[in-house]
Amino acid sequence: MSYVLVVDFGSQYTHLICKRIRKLRRNCRIIPWYELDNLANTDFGALILSGGPKSVYEEDAPSLPLDLIKRVISLGIPILGICYGHQLLGKLFRGEIRRGEVGEYGPTKFYVTSDSPLFRGLPKSFTVWMNHSDVIVRPPKGFRVIGRTENFEVAAMELNEKIFGVQFHPEVRHTEHGVKIIENFLEVANLKPIRAMSNILDEKVREIREQVGDKNVVVAVSGGVDSTVLAVLLSRAIRGRVYAVTIDTGFMRKNEVDNTVRELKSLGIEHVIKIDASEKFISALIGVRDPEEKRRRFAKIYSEVLQSAIKEIQSADPKLEYFAQGTIYPDVVESGKGGVLKDKIKSHHNVVMPKIPNLKTIEPFWDLYKDEVRELGKLLGIPDYIIEKKPFPGPGLLIRILGEITLEKINIIRRAHEIVEEIIKDYPKKKDIWQVFPVLLDSKSTGVKGDKRSYGYIVAIRVIESEDGMTAKVHEMPYGVLKKIAARIIGEIREVTRVLYDITDKPPATIEYE
Ligand code: XMP
Repeated sequence: MSYVLVVDFGSQYTHLICKRIRKLRRNCRIIPWYELDNLANTDFGALILSGGPKSVYEEDAPSLPLDLIKRVISLGIPILGICYGHQLLGKLFRGEIRRGEVGEYGPTKFYVTSDSPLFRGLPKSFTVWMNHSDVIVRPPKGFRVIGRTENFEVAAMELNEKIFGVQFHPEVRHTEHGVKIIENFLEVANLKPIRAMSNILDEKVREIREQVGDKNVVVAVSGGVDSTVLAVLLSRAIRGRVYAVTIDTGFMRKNEVDNTVRELKSLGIEHVIKIDASEKFISALIGVRDPEEKRRRFAKIYSEVLQSAIKEIQSADPKLEYFAQGTIYPDVVESGKGGVLKDKIKSHHNVVMPKIPNLKTIEPFWDLYKDEVRELGKLLGIPDYIIEKKPFPGPGLLIRILGEITLEKINIIRRAHEIVEEIIKDYPKKKDIWQVFPVLLDSKSTGVKGDKRSYGYIVAIRVIESEDGMTAKVHEMPYGVLKKIAARIIGEIREVTRVLYDITDKPPATIEYE
């Protein structure tokens, strides 16, 4: 009875539920709804039903056998339904659900209307994150309403202080007290904290040693947090038997590749190999406009370059048998191994990691979240400036140039990144920021530079706060800092005539533009 089972109905946020639970130091597993029938044992200590994109009344709407839910209840295991999960509880127990014409989206005021262990220690009203069109208009028999919003009466309900349904998403950071609500639910389940990071480090080191035996490992390092921590972890486990390969794709920021090589060496990685493939990438991408085509070509070349580098290492070292990948848990869920029904938004996320023929893949971070990887990194003695690096997408500057790729545009966007990063270095609130970057738009605008008409590029600045990139809020950057960024970009990059600040959250916009 030591873990929480999360049944995934296809919400974009499902893995955030597990993330919160693990942050609260309990174990958690996600299982797609259609695999639940096969669950022979109800050996979990709490059950959560996730959100999902469907309506419970759609013909192919995912569901659960009522028998199973009844068995869980009879064992005294608490259940929490979130959004779709809340409506599903409503439907299974014969409440009334209406297909909403007017739903609720984004921040919504929520009012606690009745005491419940789920809301213990919380104020009577707070802001929650909604994302639904259907609503429960009458709770099932026996259920009590415990919360409402301005528009809907049954925003939260409860049965016997054991079964709960909430229409909002407590797992999303923009729900105030969301973590506390999940913690309260774990208290109801009587699940005690168990995971400690130092144990996880020992476990990972042991696992790596067992997996690779006396063979050697290669890892591709982008310079980002995950791949750097992975290289150091591998080297801790099997000192001297790790090859770190860093590829210059031509779409990296200024000095990025050289800095990565230097960092890896200073972290004690013995074999650091830098491959300059920039010409190859750039010549394949010049002239390409279509966002998906850009990603496809990038991924293909990345795969070829990496494979040929590995072949070369192998020819000198026949003991090289493993390829380590920094896949973290959200990637596993996103890539469909644990996910269901998620609509494909764009073909991204660690697109670049190909299967390597003749090498066995290991993924030591497959069950960790980014902040857990960061904690591991700290325990491994990696300096803060590396641990706190902001995420940077694999295809790099490529996806920050909208429309056709040209050499001129690559130079402009690289220069704009340099300026933005220089200014942010001294920004006191930089810790609040998840990502900050410029984007080169696919249009031009008129300006006056030095009393002359100029017709130039437009750069948008995106500064967002997020916890994992799944949802994001625009950072309220002080006007003075924005003016400084704009002045330097306009002043130092001749081809740019206009700078804009992007004030769109995710959703509805994604973080990157392509
Ligand atoms: P979106 O644009 O989907 O981005 O809101 C969410 C997070 O993912 C990063 N991102 C990528 N990372 N390869 C990557 O390694 C990609 O192709 C890619 N596309 C987006 C993005 O920077 C943000 O942190």
